Amino acid sequence: MGSLLIKGGTVATPLGTMKADVLVRNGTIAAIGQGLAGDEMLDASGKLLLPGGVDAHTHMAMPFGGTVSCDDFSDGTVCSAFGGVSTIVDFAIQGKGRSLAETIARKRLDADGKVYVDYGLHVAITDLTEAVMGEIPATIAAGVPTFKCFMTYPGMAVDDYTLFRVLKTASSNGGRVSVHAENLSLISGGVAALLAAGKTEPRHHAESRPDYVEAEAVARAILLAEEAGAELYVVHLSTAKGLELIKAAQRRGSRILAETCPQYLVLTDAKYDEPDFGGAKYVMSPPLRKPADHEALWKGIADGSVSTLASDHCPFTMEQKKMGLGDFSKIPNGAPGTEVILPVLYSEGVLKKRITLERLVEVVSANPARIFGLSSKGAVEPGKDADIVIFDPSREWSLDAKELHTKAGFSPFEGLKVRGKAESLLVRGAFVVKAGRLVGSAGAGKFISRSKV
Ligand code: URP
Ligand code: ZN
Ligand code: ZN
Repeated sequence: MGSLLIKGGTVATPLGTMKADVLVRNGTIAAIGQGLAGDEMLDASGKLLLPGGVDAHTHMAMPFGGTVSCDDFSDGTVCSAFGGVSTIVDFAIQGKGRSLAETIARKRLDADGKVYVDYGLHVAITDLTEAVMGEIPATIAAGVPTFKCFMTYPGMAVDDYTLFRVLKTASSNGGRVSVHAENLSLISGGVAALLAAGKTEPRHHAESRPDYVEAEAVARAILLAEEAGAELYVVHLSTAKGLELIKAAQRRGSRILAETCPQYLVLTDAKYDEPDFGGAKYVMSPPLRKPADHEALWKGIADGSVSTLASDHCPFTMEQKKMGLGDFSKIPNGAPGTEVILPVLYSEGVLKKRITLERLVEVVSANPARIFGLSSKGAVEPGKDADIVIFDPSREWSLDAKELHTKAGFSPFEGLKVRGKAESLLVRGAFVVKAGRLVGSAGAGKFISRSKV
């Protein structure tokens, strides 16, 4: 393959933007500057050149609540590619009695040969035996240095002692733990009381998980991490209350990292009132929140207390959601999102002056790449993988299902008008999407073995 010169674009970095040409050779960024020459040339005048997004939270083909999320690694990474996401980090969830090695190997069988973009894996521990404890150092050394503990979901949740042990062992071997922070007991009690009172509709899902359900679990996880001498990464943070606790921990010097998602920045819990079971589209955990939570999270992104933006892409069709007709607790939790990270952040964040373009690049690419040990990713910089988004900042469109690629058949962001779209995406120098058309192939993405964190 010859070299490619991307000419006339504006390169965005965490330190600022500059008009410059980018030379891509052998899958990496060879040079950035003026007056460069390449075998082929692509005119990017008027376009932003962003580092490919690193979506560190997806669930492709994930078993959940008796069904499986409807985008497999092929469908889901097509969504990622159209959204300008060049790397995902998905979750291999340990089945009861399974080893971590087998858990990871099975997930790789699901993904290899299907992925359009690069991918890594976290492993979620659900059954901590002594054998599994013993596997943690080797798992880290084998390129899977990040572990997840669910603090909720019956069957997947771990108890506090398990979380504490995983925090200690992972951190002392160069790994890190992420938590889904919601209090299982408060949710179970709330769900039972609501159902007993005949409150079975999708809107009652949100009622069963008020903001203190998240905040309590965040507080507990922070305390356990501090006592274990470990870093902690809180996934899909949704509340102002949770963020306050994280900020307080950060102020006292604890390394507590927070991720949020587009849905917790722009969609409110009023969505659950959509008629005819429409509220089921938004049944996810944690649930959608209030405008005041959105504003707190936007401020957290701007002030650095929130480090990353990820999608929590976990789509189900309406047919699947109907498993919970008559009982909201049986609606599979999750929604599509990997395709909308960049347009939501750009349009609602940068253009509305809530965050700068530099901060967008940090939270979408540079920070997740650094935090998750993806050293060749996350920046348009000589020597890095040529994972580049050619982003049209003037393109106006609407985040409707007909524009997006998930197999869910709906978009929770339906009707949201945005400006800015990923027009093309290169992964390691090869186009996956070119001028709005899919040109990559299934299996061209590769598993990235990540370094210690
Ligand atoms: O509702 C959600 N978020 N589904 C995906 C699984 C998880 O909790 O991240
Ligand atoms: Zn979760
Ligand atoms: Zn998730």
